[in-house]
Amino acid sequence: MTMIDRRQALAGGAALLAAGATPALAAPADTLNAAAASRGRRFGSAFAFGTAGADRGSFANPAYAALLRRDCSLLVPENEMKWQAIRPAPDRFDFSRFDPMVDWAVANGFALRGHTLLWAYSRWFPAWLNNYDYGARPASEGARVLSSHIDTVTRRYGRKITSYDVVNEAVDPDTGNLRVTSLSTAMGGTEAVLDHAFRTARAAAPHAELVYNDYMSWEDGNEKHRAGVLKLLEGFRRRGVPVDTLGVQSHIGLFAPSPDAGALARRLEPEWRRFLDAVVAMGYRLIVTEFDVRDKGLPAAIAPRDKGVADFARAYLDIMLSYPQLHDVLAWGMSDRYSWLRTFEPRTDAVINRGCPYDDRFAPKPLYGAMVGALANARELRII
Ligand code: G3I
Repeated sequence: MTMIDRRQALAGGAALLAAGATPALAAPADTLNAAAASRGRRFGSAFAFGTAGADRGSFANPAYAALLRRDCSLLVPENEMKWQAIRPAPDRFDFSRFDPMVDWAVANGFALRGHTLLWAYSRWFPAWLNNYDYGARPASEGARVLSSHIDTVTRRYGRKITSYDVVNEAVDPDTGNLRVTSLSTAMGGTEAVLDHAFRTARAAAPHAELVYNDYMSWEDGNEKHRAGVLKLLEGFRRRGVPVDTLGVQSHIGLFAPSPDAGALARRLEPEWRRFLDAVVAMGYRLIVTEFDVRDKGLPAAIAPRDKGVADFARAYLDIMLSYPQLHDVLAWGMSDRYSWLRTFEPRTDAVINRGCPYDDRFAPKPLYGAMVGALANARELRII
């Protein structure tokens, strides 16, 4: 891919934003990654495949690529490494979208995370896997299907990918129990599936950080989810399963009218710290894998909404960044324009959620400043 310099990229971006919104560009010293790096950490983002000039959160969109270059040193594929994307059939892999993403990231000096080697949730299995015939020896066939996937992906990318969400969202948030899938039925239980996934990943990618990733959060109503994740992490340790890190997705949200987001954060903090303390006490590291903010409880008016989002985010990130076990922080996209929230969790008033660092016209918001502030004032990491 031809290198697009920052001036060209932004010229492209300005053309894209013909409506007169000019992205107020942060000075290099004030970028998200510079703030993170000043305390020994990295900042990153999800990104997507796209064809040249596509209006997507893609490396092929010059304006979006300029945000990635300015604020990130670490990237993760939003969808292109999932089973649904790379595994169209039991005997076929399709890397045609993820390969160019990896090539671009490596060529531009980004570190890469892999998301996800197994989304342990039938809703996100490809149809063929939900209906797969595991034959007369289901346990060994299930292990073979899983191993072949993990081995193929990790060996294809080698040291280009240094951290994997080996397993994503295996805990049912409503019960705290482990989700049941066709694989867990074949292999005699979900723990057998997850243990096999991590052991296979460790053998195939001994250089990589192995992460269990989930969206348990600090808001009211996450109690069973947090308890279920703690129970899973305790089980991994008891069975000697090679899991290095808990991925805290951090899709935080203001779901009800919150006139004082800071006060809400102060109320949520003790319980959230009890959860995080229990995780790190088991020797796990932490990684913020998918940060964004749902603002559906706030009014549509932009100024109060942006303030509430920024205050809530700053309080949350101050807590997370007080843990020396937290090294990397990633957003689930840099711009409201391409956020999953627009389709998956639209606001009832249909205005665009404002939970990413940049708005839908690539202008930074108070949230951007709150994130820079949290990263720049975090407890410094001394990585030995
Ligand atoms: O690529 C196809 C396209 O060819 C097709 O025309 C179109 C319409 O069906 O679908 C496109 O695929 C969509 C894909 O996003 C790419 O845009 C899928 O339908 C859609 O389900 C998928 O949604 C993603 C979702 O995970 C499910 O995989 C979201 O973009 C993505 O942001 C979201 O990310 C998850 C993390 O992986 C795990 N943690 C939660 C997070 C938010 O839900």
